[in-house]
Amino acid sequence: MTEPNKSEWNSNIAFVMAMIGSAVGLGNIWRFPNVLYSNGGGSFMIPYIVSLFLLGISFVLVEYAVGFKFKKSLAQILYFIKEKLEPVAWFVLLIVFLITTYYVCVVGWDFIYIILSFTKAWGANPDLYFANTVLHSTDSMTGIFTIVPNVLVSIAVIWFVLWFILKRELNEGIGFVSKLLLPILAAIVVIIVAFSLTLPGASIGYSQIFTPDWSALTNPNVWLAAFGQIVFSLSLGMAIALTYASYLPKGSKLVDNAIVVAFSNSGFEVFNSIGIFSILGFMALTSGIPFNELVTEGTGLAFVVFPQVFNVMGPWSSVIAPLFFLCILFAGITSAMALLEGVCYSISEKFLIDRKKTATAVCIVGFLISTIFATGVGSTILGVFDTYLNNFALLFAVLLECIIFGWIYKFDDLIATLNENSRIKVGKTWKTVIKYILPVCIFGLWAQGVYSTLTTADSTSITIMIILTVVLIAVPIIFAKLPARNKNFFNIEN
Ligand code: PHE
Repeated sequence: MTEPNKSEWNSNIAFVMAMIGSAVGLGNIWRFPNVLYSNGGGSFMIPYIVSLFLLGISFVLVEYAVGFKFKKSLAQILYFIKEKLEPVAWFVLLIVFLITTYYVCVVGWDFIYIILSFTKAWGANPDLYFANTVLHSTDSMTGIFTIVPNVLVSIAVIWFVLWFILKRELNEGIGFVSKLLLPILAAIVVIIVAFSLTLPGASIGYSQIFTPDWSALTNPNVWLAAFGQIVFSLSLGMAIALTYASYLPKGSKLVDNAIVVAFSNSGFEVFNSIGIFSILGFMALTSGIPFNELVTEGTGLAFVVFPQVFNVMGPWSSVIAPLFFLCILFAGITSAMALLEGVCYSISEKFLIDRKKTATAVCIVGFLISTIFATGVGSTILGVFDTYLNNFALLFAVLLECIIFGWIYKFDDLIATLNENSRIKVGKTWKTVIKYILPVCIFGLWAQGVYSTLTTADSTSITIMIILTVVLIAVPIIFAKLPARNKNFFNIEN
């Protein structure tokens, strides 16, 4: 069997849009405002911008250079660098895949909220509504045997949409959807922010962002938080940038593109947080609840606090509420499809399975795993998956990638690849960052994550984490051991 034709972006704009779409996700909308608020407000922008340039863009460039140079999937590239490294690729991809299984579930909850938002069906107690009526949450582990139908259906819908995009040719699927959804997403955010600024009390909220707490700058945890947000927000180390860059035609300006993507992603989250804070400021004024009690992150912000705000917002809420949930949906879909593309690419390249069949298999398995989150204990398990995979496994994977590309691979070749066509050049500073500074920072973040996870986890969480660890060790080894059907898998011409 011959190797399938290599996909290629038909325009630079499709690539840039897909990259921005992969980065702008739930993390930008509901994680960033809280991180900003809890780490000194305005002064947080200093560690944030330093992390963005020094670490974020630097690592994106590694992924771009590697993907672009080899024009292959992560599994094949790591195999080429050193045969024994292939399991590391499957380890990274498995983490990414498992993250997607619960990410899709959250996007599914959001889908339910789009429908609810037209009539504000969550009623006077959105917190109880979310836990009882939407999730049917129970504390007992026996809840794993009860399926929550509405959640299951919404998860199925999102997986179906992802399958529908991924099975198509690159430009017709991911390229088209990115070019369509991203401008709509940007327009919705502009509308929400503009509207939020007209609300009474808005200044109580947005002034928090602009009021700096300079003393926070001497706190190392604030610097780690900034770095953590950049890792999460730019989706570093998840083989997304590497995969997307491998589809770039010759002559592409890698460094210039990386800067556009990183700036757009950060611009999005900073701009969006002005809207989130203004809306919370309005709530503080209207309800008398102190501002600091309203600021939260994640599902609590989107599915509890925001519905509460919409309840008191008046007639405009019937427009703003659906737009808000639609914004989360679009941001979620463009990120989830990016997470899956790298996984599909490695599988299809090693086992010579065409795009459509790979997407079908990956989406079916993904859906089956996601059903765990559609049970009565779904949200509890989801929380454990989220903490473990993000704080623990993913950072460890990024650390491995830094070591592999910075130390094991001939790093200078990457500098040449990046500088070939770009107007902005990289050099020795970049090398130092990747070889020394980045691994140290990631290790710091990882150690902090491990410590906080282990000190707060209960016995159920520990059991789930042990199961995940076993899966994360065994499955990559099996995938690496499986014989490649693609005979070219073992040799790269570069
Ligand atoms: N960067 C995206 C976000 O902010 C995608 C992502 C998904 C990142 C899952 C980490 C984990 O949501």
